[in-house]
Amino acid sequence: MIDRRTLFGAAAAVTSAVASLFASRQASAAVRTKSLSNDIEVRGTYSEGRLERLPEMDMESRLEFTQGFRNWSLRNFGRKSSRRINELVKEAGFDPKVSPPIDDVLDVVGDDLTVWTSVRCKTTAQQIMWNNLVDGFYANKDGYLAELEAADNSGPGTLELNASLSIPDYTKHEIHIQPGGYIGDPLGGYVYHYGVNVFTLDLSSEDVFHRDLAAIVPVPEDGKMERFLDIGTGVAQLPMAVKERFPDADIWGIDVGAPMLRYGHMRAAEQGLDINLAQRLAENSGFEDNSFDVVTAYILFHEVPTEDAKKILSEVRRILRPGGVFFPVDFKTYTQVRPSASGRFNQWWDHVYNNEVWTEEYRDSDFIQLMTDAGLVVTEDAPTLQKRFWNSVMATKPA
Ligand SMILES: C[S@@+](CC[C@H](N)C(=O)[O-])C[C@H]1O[C@@H](n2cnc3c(N)ncnc32)[C@H](O)[C@@H]1O
Repeated sequence: MIDRRTLFGAAAAVTSAVASLFASRQASAAVRTKSLSNDIEVRGTYSEGRLERLPEMDMESRLEFTQGFRNWSLRNFGRKSSRRINELVKEAGFDPKVSPPIDDVLDVVGDDLTVWTSVRCKTTAQQIMWNNLVDGFYANKDGYLAELEAADNSGPGTLELNASLSIPDYTKHEIHIQPGGYIGDPLGGYVYHYGVNVFTLDLSSEDVFHRDLAAIVPVPEDGKMERFLDIGTGVAQLPMAVKERFPDADIWGIDVGAPMLRYGHMRAAEQGLDINLAQRLAENSGFEDNSFDVVTAYILFHEVPTEDAKKILSEVRRILRPGGVFFPVDFKTYTQVRPSASGRFNQWWDHVYNNEVWTEEYRDSDFIQLMTDAGLVVTEDAPTLQKRFWNSVMATKPA
């Protein structure tokens, strides 16, 4: 029997007329929604037309509940837990403003009920979030795969997938406990985009954060910004926003994860944004020497082991043109800021319970020194959206 996926894949490959019929998500969504369980209708987008509403009220309301629960777990209960950690640390004779080593924090916290209930709530919020999304999208798996396939060869913009790419083991983890991670779930792009929106308490809907970030991406001193690359681009929200700021520039995004890129390409194409996405490694990008004016990396490096980060930084230096700018936005390392005891505990939660496998190694590294060692000239007061939180560094390739 020909299933929907085969049918759509074949149709897209055989005739351009049929391919163009399904080239827009609107077209394929019209077909897709006929197969939805508990379908009500195509539910449109959120206010600015950038993020499709979830197809079923049930899925959307469960996600809204999860976001509320996470908000409460972080902001209400989470703050109570943080105060408790700092109190306990202070009672034990440490200065809670500058965390003692994590083993000491854990010893002092012991089995404190407030702290561990807070850990349970945050972890549960994360688990419910992914489960809701995976269940919801997989209930209509064929339809979503069909719309991805229909979009793969559509434009504007290009999508280059590489089925024979050798995927490094360190990228295969289920970071943030997302089932399948960035690589192993064909619907991972959908799951990631909506999940991150819940995780960031709505900062990802309408691509708000990425558009704010695109607005502060630094340009080289000579003002030339004709070619731009975002490494570890995920679902390509940053290149999309950068294209809106620099409509004439040649915009690229690369990522190891095909599911992320396919979803990103579909969204960019339906928004009429001519960007190029490619499944390539940040440490071996295949671009020519001196070929980009600006390279960005948003929250990539805390997910990369230090030895691989060094390779990525050399690659960035190689592909930037002299005078070109590198703008990596990520968490501060311990060489930049010492966290409070509660901050340190929460980072430990992220590592252990949220499966941020490489983040402790990243925070222990001296990222500024790594950039310098790679031959980049670092500036430490780069534009930033929130100085307290982000590393606010940029670097230039010397002439
Ligand atoms: C936390 S996500 C950030 C995604 C994106 N920058 C954003 O704004 O949401 C990290 C991304 O980096 C990708 N990645 C990790 N290591 C990589 C590598 N060596 N080369 C290319 N992409 C990589 C992952 O697949 C994932 O999509």
